Amino acid sequence: MAKRNIIVGQSGGPTAVINSSLAGVYKTARERGFHTVYGMLHGIQGLLDEQYVDLSTQIHSDMDIELLKRTPSAFLGSCRYKLPEIHEDMEIYEKIFAILDKLEIEVFIYIGGNDSMDTIKKLSDYAIVKGHSQKFLGVPKTIDNDLALTDHTPGFGSAAKYIAASTKEIIRDALGLAYKKDMITIIEIMGRNAGWLTGATALAKTEECDGPDLIYLPEVPFDIEKFRDKVKELLKQKQSIIIAVSEGIKLPDGRYVCELSGGADYVDPFGHKQLAGTAAYLAGFLAAEIGCKTRGIEFSTLQRSASHMASRVDIDEAFMVGGAAVKAADEGDTGKMVVIDRLSDDPYMSTAGIYDVHKIANNEKLVPRSWMNEDASYVTDEFINYIEPLIQGDYTPFMVNGLPQHLVLKR
Ligand code: F6P
Repeated sequence: MAKRNIIVGQSGGPTAVINSSLAGVYKTARERGFHTVYGMLHGIQGLLDEQYVDLSTQIHSDMDIELLKRTPSAFLGSCRYKLPEIHEDMEIYEKIFAILDKLEIEVFIYIGGNDSMDTIKKLSDYAIVKGHSQKFLGVPKTIDNDLALTDHTPGFGSAAKYIAASTKEIIRDALGLAYKKDMITIIEIMGRNAGWLTGATALAKTEECDGPDLIYLPEVPFDIEKFRDKVKELLKQKQSIIIAVSEGIKLPDGRYVCELSGGADYVDPFGHKQLAGTAAYLAGFLAAEIGCKTRGIEFSTLQRSASHMASRVDIDEAFMVGGAAVKAADEGDTGKMVVIDRLSDDPYMSTAGIYDVHKIANNEKLVPRSWMNEDASYVTDEFINYIEPLIQGDYTPFMVNGLPQHLVLKR
């Protein structure tokens, strides 16, 4: 009798909780009696080179599961690899299915964002057309929170928490020096074409902190002259101005602001330009136009790897969706992605649902215009109420010699 084996991979940009989903897959697969749980090394790209591990050689105890849940980045390694359309290159699909057959794989799980769901879509379509029995399930993951049909994505809450906390700290730092001279601080946040994470800086507005003064999301064209005039007006009222901008803000002519400084040259296989340098460019622009001290701060990969600051809600939900994918595949589902359904805000409750991956792959869920203020320079209370429950709670890192400990792949 064929063995019941399962294989899991991680794909796309890492998050602080992508490994919690891996832990959820592993634990549930064990509980459901799967024989071997394989991990693809560097996703589908590594699998094509027959790079994989038996996860039981890596995870030995419940303690390792707990450590994995607190380990940032992709434990198995990730990739940004676009499978060709099925009719364009059948050989690549034949190769993948030959490897899956050799390993006696019954279930294939891919943890990733909308580009990674394209892989699940193509593999499940191919399996159905060619009569292969493997089930293909997607587990959502992205700090960008831009996946359709799920209330939010694992990884977003923790990145939002880190961003909001760091914004508060930056504001304190800037205020300390705001005496008899103006100072403008611009913070650049990831998220590509979706402003969910940039808007999370508004959470920094608390009892003892005013929060950022301006927030610019990529969903609305950025008018650089109006921006300068607004900052000048603000400087008449206060000496320290804090501005949050998305890495993906674009001029009305469609160019990314970061392209003005010569950034965004690298383009990944999914056609995404690498975005960086927006804050630095705007800091230089304002310094030249206004003539005061400016500083550009780019959170960059810190915002997706800060597991010491992860949200408990996020880690728990990431674990839940991993387990739900195994359960769904085991019960016969394929070509689907697990989603998070919000049941209530207060107390916050959520559950795992499931959706056709064809409706999710390659789609981007953007911040609705109605969740921004009139001139799109801030987010509304509705936006803040949506995010607030997702940053709650902590998982204390396991500290060794003053630093968080991580579980790392042994080869
Ligand atoms: O997809 C998540 C993400 O973090 C985006 O917000 C960001 O633009 C991109 O990844 C950066 O990717 P990379 O690390 O490959 O440059």
